[in-house]
Amino acid sequence: MKFIPMVLAGMTLWVGAAAAGDPEAGRTKAETCLGCHGIQSYVNTYPTYHVPLIGGQHAAYLEAALRAYRDGSREHPTMQANAANLTDEDIADLAAYLAELGSDS
Ligand code: HEC
Repeated sequence: MKFIPMVLAGMTLWVGAAAAGDPEAGRTKAETCLGCHGIQSYVNTYPTYHVPLIGGQHAAYLEAALRAYRDGSREHPTMQANAANLTDEDIADLAAYLAELGSDS
């Protein structure tokens, strides 16, 4: 009966991967975000205002920031509107994808 520990180990890996977020799923979800958080020049063209760099930030930081916008503890109407409809899974996926950006640019 060697297969039971293997199945358990496989499930642990799978759950761990899901909890860390899926960068591939995040890539699609981040399309709207990158309209503002352009990776090249971190300034919105019109109206012109500074948009913080999010590519390459730590996933945990990005997750915390998005949750704070979603629950209103971080005040910014634009980002509150963008975070309002995100699920925990969306936030984890976005953070996983965005954290990978910038590391190679
Ligand atoms: C309409 C433009 C716009 C869009 C679209 C947008 N953002 Fe933002 N975002 C901003 C601005 C402006 C700020 C700075 C807000 C502040 O000062 O608190 C910001 C802040 C953030 C921060 C905090 C950064 C930091 O350094 O603290 C994160 C994380 C973030 N956005 C992620 C996202 C994600 C993920 C999406 C897509 C779901 C998204 N944003 C969509 C304009 C935008």
